[in-house]
Amino acid sequence: MKTPFMLWCRRWWLMAVVVVVVASILESAMSDPEINLLNKGCSQYNATNLSDFFSNLNATFSDLRSQISSQNKKFATAQQARTSDPVHAMVQCRDYLSVADCVSCFDAAVSQIRNCSAANGARVIYDGCFLRYESSSFYDQGTLPGNVGVCGNRTVSQATAFDTAVQGLLTDLKIATPKINGFFAATKSEVVGGSTTVYAVSQCAETISESTCQDCLTVAYANMQSCPPNADGRAVDGGCFLRYSDTAFFADNQTTNINPFLGGGGSSKKNAIIGGVVGGGGGLLLIVAIILWYQLSRKSKLVQELQGPVIYSYKDLKSATKKFSEENKLGEGGFSDVYKGTLKNGNIIAVKKLALSSSRAKADFESEVKLISNVHHRNLIRLLGCSNKGPELLLVYEYMANGSLDRFLYGERRGALNWKQRFDIIFGTARGLAYLHEQFHVCIIHRDIKSSNILLDDDFQPKIADFGLARLLPEDQKYAIHGQLCEKVDTYNFGVVVLEIISGEAWKLYEDDMHLRLVDESMDTNEYREEEVKKVIEIALICTQSPVSVRPTMSEVVVMLVSERSMELTRPTRPTLIDNDKKIRGETTTSTGSSTSNATASFTNFTGR
Ligand SMILES: *[C@@H]1O[C@H](CO)[C@@H](O)[C@H](O)[C@H]1NC(C)=O
Ligand SMILES: *[C@@H]1O[C@H](CO)[C@@H](O)[C@H](O)[C@H]1NC(C)=O
Ligand SMILES: *[C@@H]1O[C@H](CO)[C@@H](O)[C@H](O)[C@H]1NC(C)=O
Ligand SMILES: *[C@@H]1O[C@H](CO)[C@@H](O)[C@H](O)[C@H]1NC(C)=O
Ligand SMILES: *[C@@H]1O[C@H](CO)[C@@H](O)[C@H](O)[C@H]1NC(C)=O
Ligand SMILES: *[C@@H]1O[C@H](CO)[C@@H](O)[C@H](O)[C@H]1NC(C)=O
Repeated sequence: MKTPFMLWCRRWWLMAVVVVVVASILESAMSDPEINLLNKGCSQYNATNLSDFFSNLNATFSDLRSQISSQNKKFATAQQARTSDPVHAMVQCRDYLSVADCVSCFDAAVSQIRNCSAANGARVIYDGCFLRYESSSFYDQGTLPGNVGVCGNRTVSQATAFDTAVQGLLTDLKIATPKINGFFAATKSEVVGGSTTVYAVSQCAETISESTCQDCLTVAYANMQSCPPNADGRAVDGGCFLRYSDTAFFADNQTTNINPFLGGGGSSKKNAIIGGVVGGGGGLLLIVAIILWYQLSRKSKLVQELQGPVIYSYKDLKSATKKFSEENKLGEGGFSDVYKGTLKNGNIIAVKKLALSSSRAKADFESEVKLISNVHHRNLIRLLGCSNKGPELLLVYEYMANGSLDRFLYGERRGALNWKQRFDIIFGTARGLAYLHEQFHVCIIHRDIKSSNILLDDDFQPKIADFGLARLLPEDQKYAIHGQLCEKVDTYNFGVVVLEIISGEAWKLYEDDMHLRLVDESMDTNEYREEEVKKVIEIALICTQSPVSVRPTMSEVVVMLVSERSMELTRPTRPTLIDNDKKIRGETTTSTGSSTSNATASFTNFTGR
């Protein structure tokens, strides 16, 4: 299961950056749990059932501790996923730590992470180890927004030579580590013409793929570009870690021989190190010049690598989806078909084939895809990459085995969701939308929120599909993307989906005393609290009522959903949108919706069925 994540919203990250304690220089690290705090943070969301949550948290922590202490592991994961507040946790020690130091570092991390109290996700990163837990699985995550470099504040004397040595070492680690079993390497290098040695380590989470490790270290490397000639530096991220120092922080006999993993890419650097050791002569100058040139050319390439999406080959995606066969088809629409695919590495993906031919659409494709691939939120479906070279434009998304919400409301799995799950879906959808509207760096209006665009992960947490593709639509099906009017279109459609989730069917009633007649008859009457259901229905009605200006923003909806008090909001007025069939048709003329909603509906049918 892929669960993109971001429990840590941007705001948190800003704070985290402030909280980062710049590493103090280590005097002697040979026998040291290395609990120099680099980064920590708590999710802004609390668990709901605290007794469940804390017993899950305690169980996963003791599982992790026993794996690293008695099974001698440097990396472990553990989870308690079957209850209402699941916990997925991961610990990683740097390989050069002894078992005792690893356990001490873990213990320190646990007591540090307990400061987050009931937060449903948190992380602590020390020099020596990393501890993180989340309410959904994150084991496949590499680089995450908020990745950051942490430079020391002491500088070395031979700045240029030191810089060259550090760059060479880090480049080698970046190339070699993803190819090394266990994703860890420690290495060192003499600084040309001096008595200084640079020590460096790199590490990826063992559960990520080689290419994810590579991408993560590329970002880490870029984050440390500005550190030399400072004597030490680190880069921290979700799935990887990189560190260098002019002071030994691991024993000589812990060094990894990375030469076999450098291939063509690192050979110039190998020469450099040998050159440095052999020293002297005019040849040296030449070698240094080559290295500098090599570094510069890599740097400029880096900028592109960082921001763009992963590019898949059309051929690979075609074979992953059995040549876009009917049996692999998950859904179809006017502008796109979606197929299930299995990559060579076994990962299952969803491939959306866009039937867009205009050159304008192709030109917009790249910028849209770049934008969407930077959206990371646990309630938004993750765009893994794209293919833009083949006969059709393809988008690659994480695959959700449970399919879309409409199957659970109307389809063959009707009635399978209990009230708690329904509430979680409502709440998660609201959070995902609030993120798109207000927390991502540009405001993205979805415009087509509906039950077939809300996918469910293995834990029935919602993930909104098909956001951010607006500019790819043909010209006549667009409308202004910015401005509060449009944002409220999503609020409106969200309200409609909430009513669907509660009623499971067409809307019959909305008068106060009829609230509970809206409740899906397939839901067990013992499992929901009348007051809570009533509150949610009222929120849905406020979202769907006219005029637009009265509709709450999605972040206001999130607050309403979690507030304990019964609604002290304006009483919902009678929706104007219910026609004689008792079916909601879409927006009236007060907004921009109705003419587009059908068009976008077919465009965005992510997982129909
Ligand atoms: C360097 O950082 C350490 C630890 O954060 C701090 O105590 C020290 O004052 C800093 N030194 C300088 C010169 O800024
Ligand atoms: C989460 O819980 C802590 C204490 O348990 C509380 O201080 C904090 O306000 C809560 N946060 C939210 C968003 O409810
Ligand atoms: C928490 O969950 C447990 C079992 O999963 C249940 O027995 C208990 O009633 C729940 N508590 C609350 C406050 O919902
Ligand atoms: C979890 O562990 C903490 C610290 O050891 C303890 O205070 C707490 O009571 C435990 N909670 C549960 C539910 O086991
Ligand atoms: C957090 O935990 C650490 C380690 O146990 C402790 O020293 C520190 O005082 C705590 N900080 C806060 C703000 O609770
Ligand atoms: C590495 O060297 C240290 C002493 O510096 C020694 O205690 C340790 O056993 C050695 N480890 C290995 C794996 O050889």
